[in-house]
Parts: sequence; structure tokens; C-alpha cells
Amino acid sequence: MSHSLLSLALPVLLLLSSAAYLAQAKVDTFTYVNEGDFGWYIAEYNANFRAIPVYNSPFQMSFYNTTPGQYYLALGMGAAAHSEALIRWVWEANRGRPVGENATFSLLPDGNLVLAEADHRIVWSTGTANKGVVGLKVLPTGNIVLYDSKKRTIWQSFDHPTDTLLVGQSLNYPKGPNKIVSRRSMTDGSYGSYSLVFKPGSLTLLRNGHFPYYVSGGILGSSINTILFEAAPETEDAFAYEVRFATPGQSVMILTRPKYNATLSFLRLDVDGNLLMYTYYDPVLYGAWDNTFALFSDQKGWTPGCDFPNKCGRFGVCQDEMCIACPSPVGLLGWSKNCVPPRVKGCNDKGNGQIEDYYKVEGVENYVSTYTKEEKVKVEECRRKCTMDCKCAGFLYWEKEGKCWLTNVLGTLKKVDDLSHVIYVKYLKK
Ligand SMILES: *[C@@H]1O[C@H](CO)[C@@H](O)[C@H](O)[C@H]1NC(C)=O
Ligand SMILES: *[C@@H]1O[C@H](CO)[C@@H](O)[C@H](O)[C@H]1NC(C)=O
Repeated sequence: MSHSLLSLALPVLLLLSSAAYLAQAKVDTFTYVNEGDFGWYIAEYNANFRAIPVYNSPFQMSFYNTTPGQYYLALGMGAAAHSEALIRWVWEANRGRPVGENATFSLLPDGNLVLAEADHRIVWSTGTANKGVVGLKVLPTGNIVLYDSKKRTIWQSFDHPTDTLLVGQSLNYPKGPNKIVSRRSMTDGSYGSYSLVFKPGSLTLLRNGHFPYYVSGGILGSSINTILFEAAPETEDAFAYEVRFATPGQSVMILTRPKYNATLSFLRLDVDGNLLMYTYYDPVLYGAWDNTFALFSDQKGWTPGCDFPNKCGRFGVCQDEMCIACPSPVGLLGWSKNCVPPRVKGCNDKGNGQIEDYYKVEGVENYVSTYTKEEKVKVEECRRKCTMDCKCAGFLYWEKEGKCWLTNVLGTLKKVDDLSHVIYVKYLKK
């Protein structure tokens, strides 16, 4: 009896210990420390960077910073053969959570990929301990992948987009990820105000999470729950490439068709909320980057440039992609970057006893009337609602139809032919 138990237990024990040994030994571990000299090339956001030997040209991982002592672990793209070409940051691990000097980026023996401060405090990790990870690689697409001994993907950066979609990356609903979010500013890479969100039936651009300023109406089927950003030769000859959104049902939205190999393209939701595409083309001697698409642009986009809420900065009248006037209580003045909406009381009542009034701008609209449902009320009622709402910066009114929209952000006012489409701008009377 005891003999048979022992003979059974021994091989099991051996098996267990050897399995544990194998799992430990096989991981291709590494540790890179954020220290040393900065790289030579020019990088986006005027960043300094320290490249680390994790790469697949033209992609390479680096620690970069725009503020002294605040580093991000990121994937750079470009500059492989082009000293003049910018390195663009297309993915970031520790978004909005910078690390300091001597931080470490490690693939640990348990298979977890970890970014830690010099004092070992973990700032970011993939949460892949004991999941069979044996190594990390950067694929030719720029996807950073943790794989197991059967070459299966355990974790991939493509499932964690920042403000960028690389060719081959997709958005998924409801399983996610279904959005990309802009940076706060050139120097601050944390989550900004603008998002591109995929839901079955539409791609939508939102300001502050719920104010739409672009909706791709009716192009996508409502049963589609994944959308892939891809580039493919138009014909077998590959004279031109289509860069597009594709769905399993084959319906596509073509963004652009450059007459060269545009496989190394990416979509970026820019700091100001425009959706841009950049394409890197290595064979040329100079100027490897092209700006191949801009959603809001008369030339390269789907939507006129004047529909872009930030086309004229914080405030201005736009016609034919030009900012032509700065509306004021005394009429239209010349536009400059300093054109801002008038001061109002706001929600903290900083009016110092001054009275709020409105001035009228004729023949203009902003994005609110395109994507938000109107109310059918008299102009006095529309005005009263705006006055009662401390966040209201003004209101759009269509005089013939009696349509009213309140708006918190005036932004770019696009010129329209119908002079009865007007905007009342709130201001403090002297
Ligand atoms: C980083 O580590 C090196 C080597 O241990 C040390 O000499 C240096 O002072 C550290 N840098 C900072 C900013 O802590
Ligand atoms: C297009 O470019 C990609 C990326 O550089 C490359 O992998 C692919 O082979 C190229 N296609 C053709 C037809 O040359």
C-alpha cells in the first residue's frame, strides 16, 4: 500500500518541479534603465529621448520627456534611415503617469512586463505574471507583443491605444478598445478633451466625452462590432494604396489613396481635436513623412475645414478655410490668434455687478447645429435659457424656422449664405 503511494507521488513531484523550472527558465528577461545620454534625432513635442534596444525598424522603444525628470515609455516611429525625419510617438505605456531618472523597464522571470521607479515602485505593468509569457517583440506593424512558448499573443499594445491607430489596429465594441483620446497639450501627454469613439453604426468625434463634433453617419452597418484601420494596394500593380477603415462585412471608408506604399501610416487624434494621418515612406532621400489626411480640411478631408471647431482657435468667423473675422460687440474685427470669446460671468459670478447681454452675428453656424437636436422656441425663450445657464456662452438661432441651440463653446463660426442663421454671443455690458 505505502509502496504504491510512493511510486505514484514521486513522478508527480518530479513533474511539478521540472514544470516550474521550465516556466522560470524560458522567459527571455531584460531590464533597461532610464539613464545616459539623449538621442540625436528630432522627436515630436520637442522631446528628449533615450532609445532602448527594443525595435523593429522604423519602430523603436524609448524613454522620452518633454518636462525635465518626467519620462514616458513609448514607441517611436521614423528616423531609421532619415536623420532629418521626425520621430513620432505612436504608443505610450504610462500615459499621464511619468517616471523619473533611473526608472526600469523589465520583463520579469514571471512574464510580467513592468515599468518601475528607481525605488522599485511599480507605475505600469501588463499584468501578465504566470500566464506563460516567454518573450517580447515589436512586430513590423509597430504592435508590441508578449508571446508564449507556442507563439500565441498573451498581451499586445494594439489593445491599448493612446491617441494613435497604426495600420493593422482595430477598434471593437463592446469588447474594446473602442476609442482613442487626444493628448492634453504638446507637452502634456495625459488624456485630453477629444476622443474618437467607435460604436456599431458610427465613428464619432466627441469633445469632453459627450459633445459630438463629427459623426460618420450611415456608412457603417449597425451590426458591425469591429473596425480595422488598414492599408492595401488598390490593384495588383500596387500603383496606389488605399488607406481605409474596413469591417468584416467588407464595407470600407477610404481616407486617402497615396500613389506609393502607404503601409506605414497612422491616424492621430491631434491635440486640437482634428483627426490626422501621417505616412512614413522610407525609400525617399528626404521628407519621409507626409501628412496624408486631415478629417477637417477642404483639400484632404471628408469635412470642410470651417466645420472644425478649433479651426480659428478659440473664436473666429471662418470662410473657405480662412479665419476672416473676430466678432465683437462693436461688429466684426480682423481675426488674429488672440481672438477669444468675450468675458462672461460664468458659474462663479465674476461679473462685479455688470449686466450680461448678447450681440448678434449674422449668417453663421457652429458645429452644434449639425450634431445636436434643436429646440423649437421663440428667440426670447432661447435667450432666457442661455441667461439662466451659467455655462452657456451663447446660442444659435435660425430665425425662419424658430430653431434654438445653446452652446458652451463658440469656437469657429462658419459663414453660411442664409443671413437668418445667427449666433447670439453672451458678453458683459460695461
Ligand atoms: C541614477 O543611477 C546612477 C547609478 O546608480 C547614479 O549615479 C545617478 O545619480 C542616478 N541618477 C539620479 C537622478 O538619481
Ligand atoms: C509596403 O511596405 C511595407 C512596409 O514597409 C512592406 O512590408 C511591404 O512589403 C511593401 N509592399 C510592397 C508591395 O512593396
